[in-house]
Amino acid sequence: MFGGSNNGVRDVDLGSLAQGIARLKRELGAVILAHNYQPPEVQDVADFVGDSLELSLKVSEVSAKVVVFCGVDFMAEQASAINEGVTVLHPEPDSKCPMAGMISVEDVRRARRIFPKVPVVIYVNSPAAVKAEADYIVTSANAAEVVKAVESDVVVFGPDRHLAEYIAKETGKVVVPVPPYGHCPVHVRFNPDEVRVLKSVYGSCTFIAHPECPESIRVLADFIGSTSQMVKFVRSCQSRCILVGTEVGIVYRMMKENPDKLFIPASTSAVCADMKKITLDKVYRSLRDRVHRVEVPKEVARRVRLAVENTFRVLGREPPWSRR
Ligand code: 13P
Ligand code: SF4
Repeated sequence: MFGGSNNGVRDVDLGSLAQGIARLKRELGAVILAHNYQPPEVQDVADFVGDSLELSLKVSEVSAKVVVFCGVDFMAEQASAINEGVTVLHPEPDSKCPMAGMISVEDVRRARRIFPKVPVVIYVNSPAAVKAEADYIVTSANAAEVVKAVESDVVVFGPDRHLAEYIAKETGKVVVPVPPYGHCPVHVRFNPDEVRVLKSVYGSCTFIAHPECPESIRVLADFIGSTSQMVKFVRSCQSRCILVGTEVGIVYRMMKENPDKLFIPASTSAVCADMKKITLDKVYRSLRDRVHRVEVPKEVARRVRLAVENTFRVLGREPPWSRR
């Protein structure tokens, strides 16, 4: 059925692909995880849709030996690093977060030389080799909580300088951004003047924003949180009109879960091209050919796990693998 030219999966309709994916998933006992920014048809075949934190922990919760990770490279790498023995497949290895490419191992080592004894907190949106250098690894869902809990008034944080600024505001601590220019090219596309105009046009709209947005946008927000924290917020919020200050892909899930509410992207150009490189035919091929297997060097994975355990410890929690 899916044989033939171009690996045989270009010309079939999405419904047949979804059926083929469901069959292969059953045969392999695989689980499909998708980030909140994934295209609608990919979200629809996923067993679980979530933010970076939820997805990385989900792998430990589900007992599957094969996980197809629909998100950008660092997310699949993180899932592989903290889940020894699980085969993590990434349908499109070229789906890479540009912000993660803005920090290097040398950046972190230089910061340690300049600020000895200052804890290094690394955002999950980084290569595994960089996270292996960290004392703590955080996501947008827990960054401020972790930094608050760390016993130091100063931390080094990278690579997102806007998230660094947000953490400093939330915690009252000094947060040194490494590198000084790290940012998400999608979240810097919002324009405060446009947001102000949209807010006045739509009157009673509630504006929600991701902490990767620059401060000029965050100050206009009624709620700031990770992608899943935003999803949760809109479910319970009284307002029927939501202005969305993050990647537009999240609007699909919000509309699906809240058909009685109106969702307006604060910028239609806030599209993460790398997130959209995962397509249904690539998910199908990933399961059919067991590609592309994510390999994190053993020593790097061990150090990433240590930093994650440290992060759980500072929050007074147990890492999920301690319950396995
Ligand atoms: P979340 O962890 O909030 O899902 O964010 C990931 C991300 O890449 C935001 O741009
Ligand atoms: Fe990276 Fe930004 Fe895309 Fe998130 S939205 S994956 S931070 S480029």
